[in-house]
Amino acid sequence: MTQDYSQPIISDELGSNSPHAAAERNCFARGVHTPALFEIDGNPIPALVADFGSPLFVFSEHTLRSKARHAREAFRRRYPKTSFAWSFKTNHLQSVCQILRQEGWIAEVVSDFEYEKARYLGFAGPDIIFNGPYKPRAILRRSIDEGALLHIDNWDELSLIEELTRDRREPLDVGIRVWLDAGIRPVWSKFGFALANGEAERAAERIVKNPRLRLHTLHTHIGTYILEPSAYRTATQKLLALRDTIQSKHGHLLDCLDLGGGFPSNSLLHGMAGPAEQVVPPIEAYADAITDVLNRLPEKKRPLLRLETGRHLVDEAGYLLTSVVAVKGIHRQRAENDGLSARDFKEQLIAGEDSKVNYIADAGINLLYTSAWYRFNVQPSRLINEPPMPSRLYGSLCMVIDVIRDHIDLPPLEVGDVLSVHPVGAYNLSQSMQFIAYRPAVVLITESGVPELIRAAETLEEVQRLERIPAALTER
Ligand SMILES: Cc1ncc(COP(=O)(O)O)c(C=O)c1O
Repeated sequence: MTQDYSQPIISDELGSNSPHAAAERNCFARGVHTPALFEIDGNPIPALVADFGSPLFVFSEHTLRSKARHAREAFRRRYPKTSFAWSFKTNHLQSVCQILRQEGWIAEVVSDFEYEKARYLGFAGPDIIFNGPYKPRAILRRSIDEGALLHIDNWDELSLIEELTRDRREPLDVGIRVWLDAGIRPVWSKFGFALANGEAERAAERIVKNPRLRLHTLHTHIGTYILEPSAYRTATQKLLALRDTIQSKHGHLLDCLDLGGGFPSNSLLHGMAGPAEQVVPPIEAYADAITDVLNRLPEKKRPLLRLETGRHLVDEAGYLLTSVVAVKGIHRQRAENDGLSARDFKEQLIAGEDSKVNYIADAGINLLYTSAWYRFNVQPSRLINEPPMPSRLYGSLCMVIDVIRDHIDLPPLEVGDVLSVHPVGAYNLSQSMQFIAYRPAVVLITESGVPELIRAAETLEEVQRLERIPAALTER
């Protein structure tokens, strides 16, 4: 099948009964109600937009803390020696990092910017894990002095760290990133030392023989939005086997296994059939897969388990509120031309691509980078008692690829309707672009239900602050 299945549309051509009655009789109908999302943690959506502007990112402290506590419990109940590190790249808003810090998370960073931000937020050096394929020399030196745990990615980095630690008296704890095949495609071979060809073992050996370094962690990160818990079982087994080899050859038992991130949030990829709650395995399934393997070890040999979970914790805590700014296509045509019969209207709807109702929203892929992969839930913020119609939701950018949802059933919307886009808390903000538009404000709904501004909307002054103009160019 090359085309998505479209359910039949119920319209008033079906006899004298109202479309509502027809939809109730026909269980295959699109129905007459599209679910609406009226509020977030007690705050009416239209009021949030009226107070803070549109578009608007909204984060729920309650959801973030509940997801974090649930994940922590799921693992610690099975394996008490579990520690979590917050993946700054997933969302580095200060308030988000701070909430997770209060919940007992340390920091996981991958660049000088993230390292400096973690230190600025008060994470001590030893509470920072430093990942990533490129750690510039200056920040590497600083993080070594401050006792961060470096996960070494490649031979060149290992050589640089050996050089920077040459004069140390005490050995520096380090980890290595290992890339391995856990059955997930694509394999992320860009990062780390390969397990299969013995590279990871050789890197481990070189570190173990260096008196200025101490091999503390074996780390891997097998991908993101991994729907297969058994991949984590495989990854754990493979890292443990490497740990055993290092112990039997060099007498050194590593303290920690770090399995990175990758647990999915309750979201869907394009083309997946939902609902997400039914197709995304619960966190307990991942906890079982990993801890089953670890709990088979004699107690004394059990390592510290570390996780760098990002998406799973923050995605559902984040919403983007966006307003309809223009309506294009047949919906408008029908509204303006009462002469269009219901039959013609329906035929237009089912005729093909071009017959969709097109909406332009005031936010685009500049704020929703991950819309290329994820099928966000888009809901109006008022109840609209009209049959949903095949629609397309465009963003506001002046570029053709700026489409938030290419196929979506939406009831007839008006300019000014506020839509919620969810879940969008992971990566969208940290990967957002300052392209032709200002980034919008970000609000946190606190545990007590109060909306607090946690990032102001950008202004021309802010965006231009770093630019300089040569004197000759200032002449008119
Ligand atoms: C090394 C590392 N750890 C953790 C994460 C977080 O992954 P996720 O958001 O899928 O949990 C990433 C994401 O790419 C990563 O590269």
